[in-house]
Amino acid sequence: MATWSAPGKVFLFGEHAVVYGKPAIAMAIKPRVFVTVRKSRNPTRPKSPYINECFRVMGVRGSVYVRSQLQSSSGLGSSAAVTVATLSAINDEFNLGYSREYIAETAFAIEKKVQKGRASPTDTYVSANGGMVLITGESKRRLPPENLHLVVGNTMVPHSTAKMVEQVANLRQHHPTIANPILDAIGELTLAAIREMSNPKELGQYMDMNHALLEALGVGHPASSRLVLAARASGAYGAKITGAGGGGSIIALCPRRAKNRVAGAIEACEGRAIITTIDTDGAREE
Ligand code: PMV
Repeated sequence: MATWSAPGKVFLFGEHAVVYGKPAIAMAIKPRVFVTVRKSRNPTRPKSPYINECFRVMGVRGSVYVRSQLQSSSGLGSSAAVTVATLSAINDEFNLGYSREYIAETAFAIEKKVQKGRASPTDTYVSANGGMVLITGESKRRLPPENLHLVVGNTMVPHSTAKMVEQVANLRQHHPTIANPILDAIGELTLAAIREMSNPKELGQYMDMNHALLEALGVGHPASSRLVLAARASGAYGAKITGAGGGGSIIALCPRRAKNRVAGAIEACEGRAIITTIDTDGAREE
C-alpha cells in the first residue's frame, strides 16, 4: 500500500493573460489531496476519469482511496492534485521508478485529455513541485518562496474553466483593441509583482488592480465581488479572484494579525474560508 499527497494551488497574478503568453505567478498552498493505492486484482476506486486515466497510462491495476482537503471545481487545482498524487502513489506501490518531472508531465497529459484539450501545465507542475512558480509560455521558473499570509475564499459557486477561457477568447476576437491592452496590463502587473514579493502592502495593491482587470475581462461574479470587498474591508492588503473566475475562489493577502478577521468576514458572506500559506513540498509520501 502507498499513500501520497499533492497540494492545491492559487494564482497570485496573471490567470487568463497566461493563456496568451503573458507571465503569471502561481503558488502551491497547504490544503492537499491524499491518495492511497493498493495492488489488487479486483480494484475498487472512486468514479473519476482522472484516476481511471492514471491507471490506464501506467498500465497497472489497483484500488484507490482518496481523501481531499480541496473542494472540486473551486479553482484551487483539485483535479491536478488528485492526478499527481494518484500517479505518485502508483509509481511507489508498483516500484515503477519514474521521476517527479515525468509524473508532472504525465499528469498534464491526463488533464489535457480528460478536459478535452483545455488545460495549462500550471496546476500539475505546481502540485508536483510545490513552491512559487513564474510561468511564461512553455517556460516555468521557480521563484524564492515567500511566507505570504493568505486567506482563500471559496464562493461555493462552481465554475467551468473551459467556459471562462472561451469567454475571454470571444471578447478578444470581438474587441481586440480593448481586450489585448487589458491582458498586456495583467502581464505588466505580474512583472511588477516579482520585484515586490517581500512587500505585502505593495503586492496587495497589485492584487486589487489585477482583480479589477479580471472583472474588466468579464470573469467576475457577484459572489466573488462580495468576498473580495469583505476581505479588503476587514483588513486585507489586497484581494482578487484566483483561477478562471465566474465563481470559484478568491484570495486575500493579509497581515498576520488580520487573518482570522478576514476569514470571518468571508464566512459571513456565505463563502468558505481557508487560512493558508505557501507549500514548498509538492507531491510527497505520507
Ligand atoms: O480555474 P483554474 O484554477 O484551473 O485556473 C485557470 C487559469 C486560466 O489562466 C484561466 C487558464 C489556464 O489554463 O491557465
